[in-house]
Amino acid sequence: MQVAASSKDSNFTTIPSRSQWNIDPDAAYLHYTTNETISGVEFHAVPEVDGLPLVADMSSNILSRPVEVRRFGLIYASAQKNLGLGGMAVVVVREDLIGQPLPGTPSIFDYRRQADNGSMVNTPPTYAWYVAGLMLEWLKEQGGPAAIEARNIRKAEKLYAAIDASPFYSNLVDPAARSRMNVPFHLMDASLNNRFLADATEAGLVYLKGHRSVGGMRASIYNAMPEEGVDTLISFMREFERKRG
Ligand SMILES: Cc1ncc(COP(=O)(O)O)c(C=O)c1O
Repeated sequence: MQVAASSKDSNFTTIPSRSQWNIDPDAAYLHYTTNETISGVEFHAVPEVDGLPLVADMSSNILSRPVEVRRFGLIYASAQKNLGLGGMAVVVVREDLIGQPLPGTPSIFDYRRQADNGSMVNTPPTYAWYVAGLMLEWLKEQGGPAAIEARNIRKAEKLYAAIDASPFYSNLVDPAARSRMNVPFHLMDASLNNRFLADATEAGLVYLKGHRSVGGMRASIYNAMPEEGVDTLISFMREFERKRG
């Protein structure tokens, strides 16, 4: 494996510009993660890779926006964000890329066999599958990916605007690469973190604790989070700042 690009130097708060990527000319594919869930970094365009099959982990932003599926060789996504429950992953793979599994590949990962058997080579996780169906029906009722994208943009923009306008909170991600799904933020005074989380819980705002590797807070605002949820969070943050700032 060759790493084509890394934003380690910026502590994973940017996306290296495409001209800096170092792609192995003999590579079979290029893998990237369309939304990085922990630091809150998202690609807002599909990179040009000169015909190389693109493989993408879309676990944390699948169906949050329209996607040009034909640009990808393979898309995979765990279901536990925009598709409902854990225990299932969705794979969308180009027809010509399947059918040559390495010897010893478990049958569950043999996409030819899965495609020929309606994804039921084994008993599938039926409940997660059922819930994903409900999520897809719900998404259609919302107007589909384009409509949910418009709502996701509004949700994210107002939350980042509130953070940026305040000397009390910060988000260090390059504005051009900020995630619409996961908004990490820090309190300038980290000694107030536990107070913030306790008060938030009391106000009915839960699971705001940031990922253990980055600390601080993280608002996960997946498709299912209504706009009013973001409004409530922003009001709470303003009120907390007023009381403790
Ligand atoms: C981008 C991304 N990839 C993959 C996963 C799946 O991780 P896990 O191995 O816990 O199912 C997650 C989180 O659930 C994620 O956010």
